[in-house]
Formats: sequence, C-alpha cells, structure tokens
Amino acid sequence: MKRIRVLGEQKLSGTITISGSKNSAVALVPASLLSEEIVEIDNVPNISDIDALSEILEYLGAKVERNGTNMKIDSTSVKNKEIPEEISKKLRASYYFMGALLGKYKKVEMYFPGGCSIGERPINLHLKGFEALGATVKEEGNKYIVEAEELKGANIYLDIASVGATINLMLASVLATGTTVIRNAAKEPHIVNVATFLNQMGASITGAGTSEIRIRGVEKLSGCFHEVVPDYIETGTYIIAGALCGENLKIANAIPDHLEALLSKLREIGVPLEVGKDFIILSKGNNYKATSIKTAVYPGFPTDLQQPFMTLLTQCEGTSKVEENIFENRFMHVPYLNEMGASITTSGKTAFVNGKTKLFGRRVEATDLRAGAALILAALCANGETTITKIEHVLRGYEGIIEKLQNVGAKIELEEIE
Ligand code: EPU
Repeated sequence: MKRIRVLGEQKLSGTITISGSKNSAVALVPASLLSEEIVEIDNVPNISDIDALSEILEYLGAKVERNGTNMKIDSTSVKNKEIPEEISKKLRASYYFMGALLGKYKKVEMYFPGGCSIGERPINLHLKGFEALGATVKEEGNKYIVEAEELKGANIYLDIASVGATINLMLASVLATGTTVIRNAAKEPHIVNVATFLNQMGASITGAGTSEIRIRGVEKLSGCFHEVVPDYIETGTYIIAGALCGENLKIANAIPDHLEALLSKLREIGVPLEVGKDFIILSKGNNYKATSIKTAVYPGFPTDLQQPFMTLLTQCEGTSKVEENIFENRFMHVPYLNEMGASITTSGKTAFVNGKTKLFGRRVEATDLRAGAALILAALCANGETTITKIEHVLRGYEGIIEKLQNVGAKIELEEIE
C-alpha cells in the first residue's frame, strides 16, 4: 500500500505539463483491438489504469509495446475469450472491451467492471444499445454474455448522455452493417478523440462532439498513428492548485477551451488568470468570493472537478453551494476536508461550503480518485503535514502527480507502507 505526506503552505511556481487524457486513453487502448493492423498511440499517460488495460490486451493475446508514453498494439493474434473478473474489476474502463470484442467478434464474455465507488454506475444503457444493434445479453450473476449473429445499424436514444455508453456503442457499431445513429450522445472531448481515432483507422463516424453521432459501418479497420488529447481534468486540478497556492504557476500543453465551465467560475470567485492558446498562468489571489456550481454533462461543470473545486471553495468568503448531478456518492471527501478544518454540510446531492476556513494537516484517506485529488489540494494549502492513505486511487488517474508537484515547489513524498 502507498501513502503520501505533504507539508503544506509552499508556494507553487514554475511549469506543470499536462499529460494525455486518462478518460480518452482508457477507451483508445481497448478500441485498438478493432484494427486488423498495428496501431500506434502517443501521449498515453503512464497510470495504473493503462497497465490494467494492457494486461487485459495481453491476456487476450495482443502484443503490447510501451515506450514512455508511446504504445504500439498488435491485435492480430488476439483470441476472443472470457476476461477474468480479477482483471476486469480493476477499473471501470474494462467495459470498453465489451464494445470492442462484440464489434469485432460478435461475442463477448466478461464481468461487471470496477472503478471508483462514486455511485451505482449501472451499464444498462450499454446493454440496451447492444441489443438495439441485434445482440442478445445474458446475465449470469456478475457475468455478461453478449452475442450476435450479425450486428445491424440502429437508431439508439440514450436516456442519459452517458460517456461510457456513447463510446461503447461507437465501438460496437463501427463494423456493423448499415448506419447507427446515437441520439442524446455524450459530447465530452474524449468522445471526439475516440471518434477521430476510429476514423483514422478507416471508420466512418460523423457528429462526435454533438448530441447526435452517426456511424456508417465499414468492413474492416486498419492501422493508424494517433495522439491522445491533453487531460482537461488533470489541467483543471492543477489550475485549482494554482488558485490555492500558485505564484505565476504555468499549466502547459493544455486545451483551455475544454475548461470553459471551470475558468468562468474561477473568474467569478476572483482568481487572477492568464489564459493562452495552450496554457494558463495563475497565482493565488486574495479575497475569493463564494459561488455555486452544478455538475452537468459536457460542456457543463465536470463532475470530475467537483471534488477538487470544493477544496478551493473552502478558501472563499461566504457560503458556496455545490450540486452533484451525475453520481450519487461523490461527497466522500467531505468528512476528511472537515477534519482538516473545513466547514461543509451535505444534504442529498447538495453540499454547502462555509468559508473561508483555515486548513490544517491531518491524517486522511483517498476514498476515490478525485476525492484523493481534492485532499492533495487541501494538503498543499494546509498548515502542517497531511498524510493521505489509499493514494493508489490517485495514481490510477494522474500521471506523475508527485513529481509534477515536487517540480513546482510542493513538499510531497510517496511512501510504501504495509
Ligand atoms: N448511467 C446509467 N446507465 C448506464 C450508464 C450510465 O444509469 O448504462 C448513469 C451513471 O450511473 C451516472 C451517469 O449515468 O450516474 C453518467 O455516467 P457515464 O456513463 O457518463 O460515466 P462513466 O462512463 O461511468 C466516465 C468517466 C468518469 C466520469 C464520467 C462522467 C471513464 C472510465 N470514466 O464514467 O470518470 O466521471 O464519465 O464524465 O471514462 C474519473 O475520471 O474520476 C471518473 C469517474
């Protein structure tokens, strides 16, 4: 097990370079299985979620070569077989093997995926979509057997603009006969990234990034070279670090356009920002004002930044209101922030943050990926030393977070514990 120690109240200055997007990369890696040739993906973040996906690919017989952030995947000798539960439950994104294997082999056997316990996270929309394409779905306890004689293009309306379902249905339908139309599709930047990747392999997908995506099935997909987009959630997390303790902190290799919802809230509370084409420079301001946020699908305020942003709200004067509309259980960081000196109450899907409160170093636990990020941010501006256990959750999703923060002046160390 791993934990980190952070000595707070250090100024952060210098440059943090953003890595490739976790939520894009975790879809691109399984998607590469659909190709008949070698696929090369660059800017893949070195995070444990990618290790777990590589393990699944290798288990299926693919050859995976990783060199820094470059990844070459040769799926030509893949054998379609059941993916064991121990590996599929390591992460949420293992569910993308459902769409990819079904799309390519018309059959997949695998278990319910893992991932952060931030809500129920059912996959009913994925399964309903597979059925619309002509597959049958059998559930045996935790296991799903999805198969089809033939996958045929269909009109699919998603009750919720789900990221996972949108991507999985693109994967399942690229090789189907006819045209599939996904309505009320998710619009996140990683949806566009996955569609671009598939198109580079020879797919015919239009409309990604809007609520209607059209996929005209093709016979086969070939090799390609593709680069993962910068991670806008990682970018947002370091921007918040800058708002809390930055001194001309530069966040480089970013796409500020993906973060309009966050940037406009930062301006509203009084954070001094310089936004360039692919960078943001910011310093800690004085007298931040309370605000309200409501999480929503893209381009709304991202649920993945709700927890990190709440740490910043503890440093704003007045009562802020946070409404979490995507996941039912994404306030697990609140008791820990309160232990550190925050004054936050919750009622259902709403949290009220009474600021400004001084934060103090304590022993806390990262219950999930973004809760861990929120606690690291709190630790960076807290008085004294904070110890955060279960930090594996954070290492699943932030490439080199310890080194990136150390390089800009944070006093943060990773420790192995029993
Ligand atoms: N939902 C259903 N049925 C479904 C699918 C989703 O009810 O079949 C519900 C979910 O329970 C949730 C909402 O719809 O309440 C949205 O879920 P979505 O499918 O969009 O999320 P996801 O695919 O499970 C991905 C990211 C999450 C990110 C969300 C929202 C991956 C691997 N995960 O999850 O990332 O929060 O989209 O943007 O891409 C994170 O990075 O910390 C993280 C949790």
